[in-house]
Amino acid sequence: MRAVIKVDRTNCCIFNNSLNREISELNGVYGVNIDNYKNEVIIDYTDEVNIGEIYSKLKESGYSVMPGQYFGNTDYVSEQDNFKNKAGDWDSPMKVEMAKKFVSEMLKNVNLGNDKKVLDYGCGTGLVGLEVAPLVKSVVFLDNSAAMVNVLENKLGKAFEKHEYSSENIKVIMGDINKYITKDIDVVFSLMALHHVEEVQAAFEHISANILKPGGLLVIGDLKEENGSFHGEEKVPHNGFNIPNLAQLLEFSDMEVITTNTYNTIQKNGNEYEQFIIVAKKQQKN
Ligand SMILES: C[S@@+](CC[C@H](N)C(=O)[O-])C[C@H]1O[C@@H](n2cnc3c(N)ncnc32)[C@H](O)[C@@H]1O
Repeated sequence: MRAVIKVDRTNCCIFNNSLNREISELNGVYGVNIDNYKNEVIIDYTDEVNIGEIYSKLKESGYSVMPGQYFGNTDYVSEQDNFKNKAGDWDSPMKVEMAKKFVSEMLKNVNLGNDKKVLDYGCGTGLVGLEVAPLVKSVVFLDNSAAMVNVLENKLGKAFEKHEYSSENIKVIMGDINKYITKDIDVVFSLMALHHVEEVQAAFEHISANILKPGGLLVIGDLKEENGSFHGEEKVPHNGFNIPNLAQLLEFSDMEVITTNTYNTIQKNGNEYEQFIIVAKKQQKN
């Protein structure tokens, strides 16, 4: 896999040679190149890499990594796009309503002002992030479904033309959150994506360590435990969540749970499913 990391400036060749050696010696790295013209550090690596170590080496050598770097490429996009056949007609009145209810509940608990940088995790077609965008400084939309991201980008293209949103404040990333590093996000929010994520604990740890600012918030909206009927024949990693269990995973990830609430009931195929919100705060110390 290859990462191209933008830095604010690169150094002279002798200095670069020693940095190159140091990074090459790290576990999982098998190639390093520094492009002095483009101010880019290009790293080839395997899954064993510890991304934090690379960033530390760059920092120790006086490199400032430009914010919002996506550490990875389309290798991280899952080969199987589970939303390929759903993306085109995702924005049903029910989904739009669901996103609005989540945003309204989030705003009761979270202060979103024009100084805040936010990230919509599992953004899909952007129903939540686009509601929030006018309130905040910037939004990163992140999703690993090419089909969903494609729908979002089409919406954004039209909205930029009409000056409904500014492209400067919006970034779209197709990929897995575990490969994205920025450490400058005030609020990560996620609606109905977590039950599709296999390794919830790993995602929480990554968000806490590598995405949120100290004191930043993670806001999850998802289904309470259900009997698996919500997705019909489709199997998903989690049939909703038990809130105390989820709260414990957040606490294990260096986050403090601020509030939880059951805020909505969805009617689907004659059944009722409850949705909860949970807000957790990253510890101030990091
Ligand atoms: C049920 S949809 C919800 C979309 C949107 N949040 C909404 O409320 O309309 C779940 C989304 O999470 C995305 N997703 C699932 N696992 C993901 C992962 N590991 N990383 C990024 N996105 C993921 C899916 O591709 C999908 O677009």
